[in-house]
Amino acid sequence: MKIVRAVVMGAGYVGLVTAAGLAELGHQVMAVEPNTARREALAASQVPFHEPGLQELVARNRAAGRLIPAPAWHPGFPAEVFLIAVGTPARPDGSLDLTQLHAAAKAIRAGLEASPPGEGAGRPLVVLRSTIPPGTTREVARRLAGLAPVAHNPEFLAEGTAVRNFFHPDRVVIGVRDPGDAAPLLALYRPVVEQRFRVVLPEGELVGRGAPVPVRVTSPEEAELIKLGANAMLATRVSFINELARLCDRCGARVSEVTAGIGLDPRIGPAFLRAGVGWGGSCFGKDVQALLAAGTARGIDLTIPAAALGANRSQRRWFANRIAHALGGLQGKALGVLGLAFKPGTDDLRDAPALELIRLFLAGGARVKAHDPVAMARCRAEYPDLPIGYAESPAAAARGAHGLVLVTDWPAYAALDLRALRQEMAAAAGSRPLLADGRNLFDPAAAEAAGFAYLGVGVPGSGEPGTEP
Ligand code: UDX
Repeated sequence: MKIVRAVVMGAGYVGLVTAAGLAELGHQVMAVEPNTARREALAASQVPFHEPGLQELVARNRAAGRLIPAPAWHPGFPAEVFLIAVGTPARPDGSLDLTQLHAAAKAIRAGLEASPPGEGAGRPLVVLRSTIPPGTTREVARRLAGLAPVAHNPEFLAEGTAVRNFFHPDRVVIGVRDPGDAAPLLALYRPVVEQRFRVVLPEGELVGRGAPVPVRVTSPEEAELIKLGANAMLATRVSFINELARLCDRCGARVSEVTAGIGLDPRIGPAFLRAGVGWGGSCFGKDVQALLAAGTARGIDLTIPAAALGANRSQRRWFANRIAHALGGLQGKALGVLGLAFKPGTDDLRDAPALELIRLFLAGGARVKAHDPVAMARCRAEYPDLPIGYAESPAAAARGAHGLVLVTDWPAYAALDLRALRQEMAAAAGSRPLLADGRNLFDPAAAEAAGFAYLGVGVPGSGEPGTEP
């Protein structure tokens, strides 16, 4: 395999997985992270967020000298490929703030101008890995003024499975003006495309899946829209089933049966049809809003992604209303909340449904005690003024509570002893404390047998029909 010298700019959720993954493949990778705390953590082989397998990947490649943290790129590390994976946060109007991205490109330009590639060395390739609005790749190419071709290589990493997603992608997308410019990136990803690798991790071994990974070499604009469109499609799919679940409630239909029957159509498929309290995370909301902003800037009204965004926002309020109704009001009630992270497998709280639900509960006069297997420390640090208690166990979250609300479907919660939990609740013997299951994680019959009044999402017979938020 050809060893490529690469620079990854940004060591966050996307950049660090990319840098460690490329180093694991055998490449020489400089991870540029100007944030001192993040860079020092990396230098000490520590990962400042929860992502299964990443800690081992970083430590192993730091020790092997293939993963080199640096505050900035310097031409003393002549790179063939620069991957810009810095944050592109959403602005209030939904458009993406590209300040960090353009600053990274400017630093590359300055370095290349100060120290042009050696005789015979070709121009390096600059790759935009961050999520970007259509037209950004073209704009960065203009700002680099011919010093280097620019590609867009969107990532399809899902938090909690990002390391696996890196080595087992469904596709590699490379958006370039001239297809020949894709060559350095294809060399970088060759072992992944050919699925020829063996990665040993505590969670198990990752080996090639046999069939090569499809590679799509497109225009930059097509790659930009593939990324935003894919996430908007996924978010729309979930919002669609969440709305359908409300109708299931009213029709006495089990949404799980409805989605199973719908998903058997190969044109639809079963994935991403799990009804619940709504989607969260740093990607769906941001990417849908970025797509809407791109449409607005071009006079195109993208009504369906807009509806998906609205449906997701109201889904949380709808579920909170049903809990309030089931409890006869929130004032003075004690609620236990199971799960803070926006999904299992991560400690990421960005746009987490749990935080919005907790704020609604507090606004209604309830008291809240929360538990999460990994995200409590981050919640305390990021929301020090949030007036909630933190429980050292699910049982402690249930203790003295009138209602228990499952928000994040951590696998560990599915194994909970519901009878034991019911005994912890405040309700007097004989009455039925509430179990509000925001992810339809529990079996309704088992919950009722354990003594709970069960409330699900699209689960008939569970609580009163919800009022529209
Ligand atoms: C997503 C995309 O999956 C990934 O390809 C892209 O690169 C980044 O954005 P991520 O946001 O990390 O990844 O998590 P994902 O697993 O997609 O879940 C997003 C949200 O949707 C979570 O809050 C999850 O709980 C919710 N969800 C997902 C549902 O409510 N129902 C489902 O059926 C699937």
